[in-house]
Amino acid sequence: MRRVTGKQVVDLTAEQFTELRAQYTSVLLDVGTGDGKHPLHLARKHPDQLVIGLDAAPDNFRKTAGKAAAKPAKGGLANLVYLWHAAEALPPELRDIDELHVLMPWGSLLRGVLDTEGAMLRQLAACCRPGADFLVTLNLHAWRPPVPEVGETAEPTPESATEVLAKAYATAGWQLEAAAYLTPEEIAELSTSWTRRLNSSRDQLDVLALRGKIA
Ligand SMILES: C[S@@+](CC[C@H](N)C(=O)[O-])C[C@H]1O[C@@H](n2cnc3c(N)ncnc32)[C@H](O)[C@@H]1O
Repeated sequence: MRRVTGKQVVDLTAEQFTELRAQYTSVLLDVGTGDGKHPLHLARKHPDQLVIGLDAAPDNFRKTAGKAAAKPAKGGLANLVYLWHAAEALPPELRDIDELHVLMPWGSLLRGVLDTEGAMLRQLAACCRPGADFLVTLNLHAWRPPVPEVGETAEPTPESATEVLAKAYATAGWQLEAAAYLTPEEIAELSTSWTRRLNSSRDQLDVLALRGKIA
């Protein structure tokens, strides 16, 4: 696996990953991590959890990855790892994830989590253990007006998500159990830079959270 430690990219072997994950009670994977602030927040809050940020664009998280890889005395976090991979081509060594987050996806990641064929959802499910929790948060401004990635999908509501989207998710092994708009406090609690950036440019930021379990 390609692990980014700042300017450097090193190979994280399957053995090293197994050794690393054995030191923690659970593993959380944040796909499309952007600048990596969400996993940084989680890794600080839960030192007993291994937190992995993954993104197709390594420059987005290079700075945070450099800080995380520093010695603990210099503010580094041993339980925080950043990987440079696309959600369409996940490394096979990435297995037994206990919790999956996909926050504010855009581009092919947004297309992938809305795709009723479920190709990307299936790949993401394959790296999780059965019963893993998932959280997907959709920036509803992607439908106002619709960006090309949303295709024919209408803006989801809590009702339509649990009826329509849930069926597509189920075929890919994702059991969608709850869909709800997030309050400003809940959005802030995610600690993502992207929500902060969007919030500063809008009176109101509308985000729909989808939660459930991987079958
Ligand atoms: C709007 S940003 C959100 C970043 C972060 N989750 C947040 O909330 O601040 C979307 C991120 O998804 C990443 N992304 C888009 N398509 C991807 C894919 N196919 N695989 C992995 N990452 C992808 C982009 O590089 C970008 O960093």
